[in-house]
Amino acid sequence: MTGRVVLVTGASRGVGAETARLLATSGAHVYVNYRDKAKRAERVVAEIVAAGGRAWPLKADLTDPIAVTAMLDEVRERSGRLDALVLNASGGMERDRDLGYAMRLNRDAQVRVLETALPLMPALSRVVFVTSHQAHFHGRRPGYAAYEAVAESKRAGEDALRAKIPELRERGVGLVVVSGDMIEGTITVTLLDRAEPGIVDARRAEARSLPTVGEFAAEVAKAVVEPLETGHTVYVGGADYLTLTAPGRG
Ligand SMILES: NC(=O)c1ccc[n+]([C@@H]2O[C@H](COP(=O)([O-])OP(=O)(O)OC[C@H]3O[C@@H](n4cnc5c(N)ncnc54)[C@H](OP(=O)(O)O)[C@@H]3O)[C@@H](O)[C@H]2O)c1
Repeated sequence: MTGRVVLVTGASRGVGAETARLLATSGAHVYVNYRDKAKRAERVVAEIVAAGGRAWPLKADLTDPIAVTAMLDEVRERSGRLDALVLNASGGMERDRDLGYAMRLNRDAQVRVLETALPLMPALSRVVFVTSHQAHFHGRRPGYAAYEAVAESKRAGEDALRAKIPELRERGVGLVVVSGDMIEGTITVTLLDRAEPGIVDARRAEARSLPTVGEFAAEVAKAVVEPLETGHTVYVGGADYLTLTAPGRG
């Protein structure tokens, strides 16, 4: 990754922050996108820089097209190109959001970020979409009411991104999906457990163990660099889901 330029969306905490740290450790110049938690994002950047890496914070609410354009303008001005785009930011469980927010962030904004970034991405660059098993396998297994809007919209986002594969292929840009089971210790899992007490313990017992943030982020970081076929899905945890994969849907 030495000298490679990577943008990780939603990197102020959780999986995105850890993915940014791992990519920076392997030599990438990492742009740390966040929505509004500037202190958290600056802390992630400071840790990377203190460890000898290169990182820069980029504030942009991805549902705001003007902010997305400004973010990628800054990448262009600073680096001139983007070698990998990690579409990690996600949301929809926030209390203060309207019903359409999940779809605007998890589908529409993902496509918009990709389309805005694409002119900066040379051949052999890579897009990684981060999702959850609950979203990836949406409709094929009973879900959780509190997560339904997120699962549906992230699946719609994955489908919309996959629909762009022919265009990406023409440019020599790869797209890989990384899907994970519930991740131990994340805010999402805390919110889920609060909404439907007991479901996390039940899932942990069913799956035997749940991936940690570090384990999941390691797979996301690997998906940026490993020679994977475009359209490939990397599964992390939740072996019981994998029998549900329907041919042709990914
Ligand atoms: N948590 C799980 O159990 C789990 C399981 C499987 C897959 N995943 C996937 O892993 C990814 C990361 O999950 P996580 O649990 O680490 O997330 P998280 O802790 O909720 O962090 C979300 C990140 O996204 C940013 N963000 C939220 N809304 C945004 C917006 N409108 N514009 C720009 N940035 C925005 C946040 O920025 P601010 O801090 O500034 O708000 C934060 O950096 C997601 O794609 C998720 O689906 C998670």
